[in-house]
Amino acid sequence: MTPQSFDTLATLLRNSSGLSIGPDKLYLLETRLTPLMRAHGLADLDALAGKVRLGAPTIERGVVEAMTTNESSFFRDERPFNYVRTQALPRLHAARPAGAKLRIWSAAASTGQEAYSLAMILSETRAALGGREVEIVGTDIAREPLARAREGIYSQFEVQRGLPVTMLVKYFKKDGSNWRIADSLRAMASFREWNLLGDLRPLGMFDMVFCRNVLIYFDSPTKAKVLAAIAKQMAPDALLFLGGAETVLGVSDKFAPLLGERGVYTHAATTAPLASRPFAGASMR
Ligand SMILES: C[S@@+](CC[C@H](N)C(=O)[O-])C[C@H]1O[C@@H](n2cnc3c(N)ncnc32)[C@H](O)[C@@H]1O
Repeated sequence: MTPQSFDTLATLLRNSSGLSIGPDKLYLLETRLTPLMRAHGLADLDALAGKVRLGAPTIERGVVEAMTTNESSFFRDERPFNYVRTQALPRLHAARPAGAKLRIWSAAASTGQEAYSLAMILSETRAALGGREVEIVGTDIAREPLARAREGIYSQFEVQRGLPVTMLVKYFKKDGSNWRIADSLRAMASFREWNLLGDLRPLGMFDMVFCRNVLIYFDSPTKAKVLAAIAKQMAPDALLFLGGAETVLGVSDKFAPLLGERGVYTHAATTAPLASRPFAGASMR
């Protein structure tokens, strides 16, 4: 692959999705883009880059989609979800007037495990939330994983990763060799195609934002831009959850880490300590 072709693809990816790739990731381009090249009858990456230079929206979208990493699992890293159940939900419930809806955003939703993990928590804690309406919005740039998220069907391997057996039995039904999530959980979450680099304002305001394991793929200026845009969609006392390898420190001054809770952030200006209230949410295990 010529350096010019590499530049064409790297620039497309950076501008369209924020994905930052260096020349050391050439093998990744080759592995991920080979099916797309074949599907369009193109001989190699130079031919693919040539099409992109000429402006071919379908191929450009295919390149972006193929280069996304859609790895996810239920209750990924466990701890943030325990925090939601035992701290965040009770606090936000107490802080909001009766009848106000809580809104949770899974901002890089991929195949939906994050959104449905939150739906399971909400279903388990329904009584403690006094029937308060909670909306889960899942967004992602990639269409294929979103279609899977909407369908709510997972393989045996996927349900074995992080999902407690009690939750599997309670919320999933066997569907051939796969597992289908309960309609009641599917009804709690909606999934929309959305680019984090785009205008986020139409999505509205949120009380919790899960933006996990996506910023790692962006360079620092892109991380800062996305975090600043997310901050504007968060209520003054809302919480931001990042992935285990992600931080705002040295990247954005819009957020401050929540003391003692790794990966959870508040608006930088928020100084109010977390009220610790007893909460009658059922244990997940
Ligand atoms: C590794 S998955 C993370 C899934 C889930 N949040 C988790 O932690 O398990 C990263 C997701 O980010 C999405 N993504 C990458 N760039 C994006 C962008 N610019 N806007 C929205 N989603 C993006 C990818 O399509 C992919 O599904």
